[in-house]
Amino acid sequence: MQYSTILGIESSCDDTAAAVLKEGKILANLTAGQAIHENYGGVVPELASRAHQSNILPVVHAALNTAQIQLQDLTAIAYTRGPGLMGSLHVGGNFAKGLSLGLGIPLIGVNHLQAHVSSLFIDPPSPKFPMLCLLVSGGHTQILLVKSFMEMEIVGSTIDDAAGEAFDKGAKLLSLPYPGGPLIDKNAANGDDQKYAFTAGKVPGLDYSFSGIKTNLLYFLRKQTELQANFIQENLADICASYQRALIDYLLLKFKLAITEYKPQSIGLAGGVSAKSRLRRDFNALGVQMGLDCLIPKFEYCTDNAAMIAIAGMYLLESGNTTAIDALPYTRGMV
Ligand code: KG4
Ligand code: ZN
Repeated sequence: MQYSTILGIESSCDDTAAAVLKEGKILANLTAGQAIHENYGGVVPELASRAHQSNILPVVHAALNTAQIQLQDLTAIAYTRGPGLMGSLHVGGNFAKGLSLGLGIPLIGVNHLQAHVSSLFIDPPSPKFPMLCLLVSGGHTQILLVKSFMEMEIVGSTIDDAAGEAFDKGAKLLSLPYPGGPLIDKNAANGDDQKYAFTAGKVPGLDYSFSGIKTNLLYFLRKQTELQANFIQENLADICASYQRALIDYLLLKFKLAITEYKPQSIGLAGGVSAKSRLRRDFNALGVQMGLDCLIPKFEYCTDNAAMIAIAGMYLLESGNTTAIDALPYTRGMV
């Protein structure tokens, strides 16, 4: 759909985002974060919905202004239909529906997880298929066999927590402020990643389990702080580096097994956790080691953003997948 001009809207969790995609190129990609959740140490769904309601109009206006696109120039509206927080999804979804009805243009409901994979389709080079994708976000951890944009098969998945949750909950145990995931990465930069050993749960095949490694960290910190009250403060960098290494090694261990099993033509990394510098470095090294093209999105396309929604919308529109005005949001799953 070379001549489409698509407005993308993302509101699945605590970021209100809007992007404009014209003829396959991103002209604007803006996000309003929600600092209010910092006071509570995590996302409060009701507050998230209210903040989306306040942010959505200014963010969409700003995206259109940045792209120098008038409402009348739009040819379709893409929005996150799910999975996510119900109230948050309703705000973005209803806004998108209103615009679609008002302008008389197609509405495209996008799966948030498929959109994270689509972040690999925004900039060149194009992925060689089949691509094996490691999707690591705050809510999901999956290995996907991607045969084309429309054909994605989950071949491995976490049976409990997501990798991002393991980072964020680990950060909480270390008393780092919310959002803690990025702070683990930051502190790890100056630490010794071999100093402490943390072990992940053993699950068969290509599935993951992250709840055990978090408990492992909890018991370790309890024991050490009994012996030395300021253990965490004095060893923060080494703990972060060792914990982060253990999580990333585990992610890549299973992913390597998947490469051996599925023999892809390329590999891709997507989702908010792919913002972590160590994961980007190690994933790239894995590509070199296995002799495979390795795709990692630009930093701004890793965490929740609307550019990935707009590009996913373009592929869906090309294949005739538009969404009915009465379509409901969904909170879970890849549908
Ligand atoms: O994809 P995402 O933004 O939201 C979900 O769809 O869940 O992923 C959020 C996760 C968080 O758990 C956090 O650990 C990680 O992405 N993350 C980061 C950064 N921003 C988010 N990790 C390192 N550096 C960042 N800047
Ligand atoms: Zn996400």
